[in-house]
Amino acid sequence: MLLKDKIAIVTGAARGQGASHARHLAGEGAKVIVTDILDDLGKAVAEEIRESGGEAEYVRLDVRNSDEWSAVVGDVVKRYGTVDVLVNNAGVCEFAPPAECSDEEWAYVNDTNAGGVFKGCRAVIPVMQQHGGGTIVNTASVQAVKGTADYTAYQASKAAVLGITRSVALTYSKENIRANAVAPSVVDTPMFHRELEHFAQNEWFDFDAWLEMQPISRASQPEEVSKMVVFLASDLSSYSTGGVFPVDGGLLA
Ligand SMILES: NC(=O)c1ccc[n+]([C@@H]2O[C@H](COP(=O)([O-])OP(=O)(O)OC[C@H]3O[C@@H](n4cnc5c(N)ncnc54)[C@H](O)[C@@H]3O)[C@@H](O)[C@H]2O)c1
Repeated sequence: MLLKDKIAIVTGAARGQGASHARHLAGEGAKVIVTDILDDLGKAVAEEIRESGGEAEYVRLDVRNSDEWSAVVGDVVKRYGTVDVLVNNAGVCEFAPPAECSDEEWAYVNDTNAGGVFKGCRAVIPVMQQHGGGTIVNTASVQAVKGTADYTAYQASKAAVLGITRSVALTYSKENIRANAVAPSVVDTPMFHRELEHFAQNEWFDFDAWLEMQPISRASQPEEVSKMVVFLASDLSSYSTGGVFPVDGGLLA
């Protein structure tokens, strides 16, 4: 019960890693606000957590929308008193190389991945300041540190996540607010399967050979990232802020 009675918001929690993070935070005693734009899947995740004895509810939140952030955080504070944990997990991935990345793709990916993280931090920080602090876990990627061809907007957005994380950590450390980023490599989720479909169309890309570059040569399961998220959200990581924590099978090494 590392997060007993803590109030936690998780974005993009209707499926994939976010759903797993919500389950693990609830399993550690947190009251979890499951948020996403996929309402039916999000409601099902919250219901499943409640059925297994945890506390969770689903609330729609498009992370690109500042008004929705204000409304959701305001409502959570009204009902539960504060926000102790924010897990900024929502993300999208598109694959255009630099010379072909459209304005629309650039805006969509960066507004979601970087803008969503920024807006989430901006919405919860005043609440955390007023209530003695909190922890923020932002979802970056190994792509924030190490490149792969074709991921122009995605790589830029994930590098921005590291910048936002450091800025929050450095600005609010005296107010007991910690912010860290988790950097997964390959996680077995719907996003990853869409990536595989994309790269299957490229003759030059051999996924198995690529995976062999990774010392632990397999995709991770979402749960393996969730354990790092629980660590960063809880007091287990009390001396860590502004960091980037790989869950990458050793890829960055
Ligand atoms: N799967 C991987 O291999 C991998 C690797 C590194 C990092 N990541 C990152 O991990 C995070 C989770 O991804 P995943 O693998 O679970 O993918 P996923 O596509 O399965 O889940 C992403 C979730 O984000 C939600 N989402 C998208 N846009 C949103 C918006 N505007 N507002 C609210 N929710 C929105 C989706 O509805 C979905 O539920 C993402 O930030 C992703 O970039 C994934």
